[in-house]
Amino acid sequence: MARRDPHSYNDDTQVETESLALVASIDFATKTITAEASLVFRAPGTGALDLDTRDLTIDAVTDVAGEPLAWRLHAPEPILGARLSIELPANTAGVRIRYRTSPSASALQWLEPAQTSGKRAPFLFSQCQAIHARSVIPLQDTPRLRLRYTAELTIPRTLRAVMAAAPLGRSERGELAIERYEMPQPIPPYLIAFAVGDLEARDLSPRSRVWAEPGVVDAAAYEFAGVEDMIRAAEGLFGPYDWDRFDILTMPPSFPYGGMENPRLTFLTPSVIAGDRSLVRIVAHELAHSWTGNLVTNASAEHFWLNEGFTVYAERRIIEAIFGTDVAALNAVLGRRVLDESLARFANRPQLTRLRTTLWNVDPDDAYSQVPYQKGYFFLVTLEHAVGRAAFDAWLKTYLQTFRFQAITTDDFIAHFERAFRGVLAKVDATTWIDGEGMPDIPEPRSTRLDAIEQLGTSPPPDDVAWSATEWMLYLESIPRPAPPALCRHLDARLTKSTNYEVLVAWLDLALRSGYTAVLPRVEEVLAAMGRMKFLRPLYTALAANPATAAAGRTLFERLRPTYHPIARAMVESVFREAAR
Ligand code: BES
Ligand code: ZN
Repeated sequence: MARRDPHSYNDDTQVETESLALVASIDFATKTITAEASLVFRAPGTGALDLDTRDLTIDAVTDVAGEPLAWRLHAPEPILGARLSIELPANTAGVRIRYRTSPSASALQWLEPAQTSGKRAPFLFSQCQAIHARSVIPLQDTPRLRLRYTAELTIPRTLRAVMAAAPLGRSERGELAIERYEMPQPIPPYLIAFAVGDLEARDLSPRSRVWAEPGVVDAAAYEFAGVEDMIRAAEGLFGPYDWDRFDILTMPPSFPYGGMENPRLTFLTPSVIAGDRSLVRIVAHELAHSWTGNLVTNASAEHFWLNEGFTVYAERRIIEAIFGTDVAALNAVLGRRVLDESLARFANRPQLTRLRTTLWNVDPDDAYSQVPYQKGYFFLVTLEHAVGRAAFDAWLKTYLQTFRFQAITTDDFIAHFERAFRGVLAKVDATTWIDGEGMPDIPEPRSTRLDAIEQLGTSPPPDDVAWSATEWMLYLESIPRPAPPALCRHLDARLTKSTNYEVLVAWLDLALRSGYTAVLPRVEEVLAAMGRMKFLRPLYTALAANPATAAAGRTLFERLRPTYHPIARAMVESVFREAAR
């Protein structure tokens, strides 16, 4: 008996799920999903089966022929949820579970019409990474085990259901509609994803379209018009795109992440829609996951850097191919800055700054930071430089080819790289990168545009400066805190009205850190408008850090809390908890 993933009750001596058939009815009035999940095993099995669940009410468990089985739902544990043990008689082909989700299911956010852009219809979406799929479906919730699925969702007829899968059709019956989907390729459970709402689509290319609420869809189509160029650039670098379609779903503002690489249907925050395509690096990132993450998958959250470090590397290669080395270099500089901030934030939990982590009794949502992303990126760049780009690119293709549709650990990566380039890992001291804390001493990434920015010091840029969003962010990051009041007044006049959220939040953070409280009304607006954690974290942290704004920040959070996603709520709570220590 062995549990190999610290975040799943799965035991590697038990049967493995091959496919899932989900039949689910979505009820906005009670905020519950009533469903039947059929799990079919790779081969018939016998004995104990442990599934992951969280906040599910189990109504019945049978085999696939409908024969009742003995089962028991254990008391929930804080991180893992509740173990559902089922006793399989000899040669059981699969199990069928009837159950209901809880209104507070951690993977789901049920939005009132007022929380959408159209204000007309409710909205529901799922966010299953890292370990929230179990709050929607009882299953073996570990990325070690891939499964195919079919799904049949019953929803109100006035709405549409979209899924990160291939659509099989829609039928209507009275007030209800049934939408059917199929995911023919085996995926880790965290990539199961769906959304229900008032949604419309615009085609971007023969293999890509964008979905959004009607009032947002045209702006979204403009912003993401370059997606086909990105897919082509990525195919040139990493091999054919294997998922057939690359569609995008523009999420409601409370979506807690920038993007989520759900296969065939990437979920993106509406804050990327800046009107000038200046934030499309997120599209490159989620697209890159189609290879690094969705094809070659981390075997558990302990090897998360294999997903995110490789994806940031791949993202910057796509950006370089399309926008040039200058832009890619500037992104790397910004990456180094956010890495240093994350390292500082984890000063009291340095184990979490390793690439390979040990996460027994650690919630992956608490371990989340930019470290696996950016430290992983700099490690891979170090390897690229050590062997040369041509050789590295050739290796990357064989790595993706060898491990496609598999889940791997850091040791699998090490062995594969070592076989291709004997001795190189030792030469770059890979052990320190992988198992050491903090960052090895490497030269700071540079770019000519960065030099121009840094020369400004704390003087404001010329009025006619034609900076990209990234350059503005770097400038704002480069200014030592607290910034002089005169500079704050100048930047206030220039940036507080900005609708580019990345630039705006970088400015508001600087302003709050400089005690420049004139921006408070705008800070409140941003915190009320956008539930993306990347924005909530710095703004609430800055509010909490200043005795003049801490109480107001808390009151504001109490008011806005119901509008935030459960994951975002927990994150902001931890910000205030940390600040109080
Ligand atoms: N897969 C992640 C998002 C994620 C990670 C969700 C872990 C839940 C648990 C996604 O690909 C991602 O990295 N998004 C980034 C944007 C990107 C441009 C770095 C984000 O949301 O900030
Ligand atoms: Zn990612």
